[in-house]
Amino acid sequence: MTSSSAKKRDLLTLADLDVAEIDLLFARATELKRSLKAGQTTRTLEGRTLGMLFEKPSTRTRVSFEVGMYQLGGHALFLSSKEIQLGRGETISDSARVLSRYLDALMIRTFAHENAEVLAQYASIPVINGLSDHFHPCQILTDMFTYQEKRGPLKGRKVAFVGDGNNMAHSWILASTKVGCHLTLACPVNYDPDPRVLSLAQRQPTVNGGGSVTLTRSPQEAVAGADLVITDTWTSMGQEQERQRRLRAFHGFQVDQTLMREAKKDALFMHCLPAHREEEVTSEVLDGEQSVVWDEAENRLHVQKAILEWLIRGHF
Ligand code: CP
Ligand code: NVA
Repeated sequence: MTSSSAKKRDLLTLADLDVAEIDLLFARATELKRSLKAGQTTRTLEGRTLGMLFEKPSTRTRVSFEVGMYQLGGHALFLSSKEIQLGRGETISDSARVLSRYLDALMIRTFAHENAEVLAQYASIPVINGLSDHFHPCQILTDMFTYQEKRGPLKGRKVAFVGDGNNMAHSWILASTKVGCHLTLACPVNYDPDPRVLSLAQRQPTVNGGGSVTLTRSPQEAVAGADLVITDTWTSMGQEQERQRRLRAFHGFQVDQTLMREAKKDALFMHCLPAHREEEVTSEVLDGEQSVVWDEAENRLHVQKAILEWLIRGHF
């Protein structure tokens, strides 16, 4: 809806932001968090509207985007694909063109990443990927922000991802080469990350010191000396039919207290949630002293408010 001569920006993957922009985004998220806690109002998106297209369920993404828009003086519309014409076969490209006439930005949670790309291609307004089968950029930005808030810059740190080479793993792969941290992923056979994502990460400008990505089959090797340990569900949304097979394949990849002892003493544990307690992570770790999962969930709100301001206003 907003008319601007500047080219609109989208956030589909971490490749859409450079390191300097990530720094600006985090600085703004810190300011927004501080002012919210101080009871101050920030109505920078007064009169603006975000459409939130959901083809999969959500708790955190839906609520944090909706509350974020409200707190910034704007409004968010929840659009379930089951209840709009998209679910009856109206194309994504046609939906994009129509919705752009009403809204100031769109968020999409979808299956094939290509759906988010088509939406962005045909929408004249910014499009935010709120999770696709391949990437979850808002979550990874929040994870990076949360680490920085607790322990300082990620550059040079050792990050371990234990589990499925899925959307979270892919986004961490892009993050590591971007911010210069050293990521080791431990995934079972047949559950490695997509090699196309690895090569995309290698092609990113390494302005912040490179970083590295290593694959292993051993969770112990990945976690040894790590500053940050991450896992995610073994059965992502849309893979429910594969659950039994996956439970067998991921045997031995649970993050428990014994595995956490391989990491540095002050290592943090993160999980994007929802967690499947006693599957990919034990309650002892999730509820333990190294876990920052609740702050991580809260920070979705503050980081996304900064993302919304940046994309809708067109500057930081
Ligand atoms: N982490 C995350 O995206 O959670 P939801 O699926 O609840 O949105
Ligand atoms: N990998 C998970 C992340 C949930 C936020 C999924 O796609 O279901």
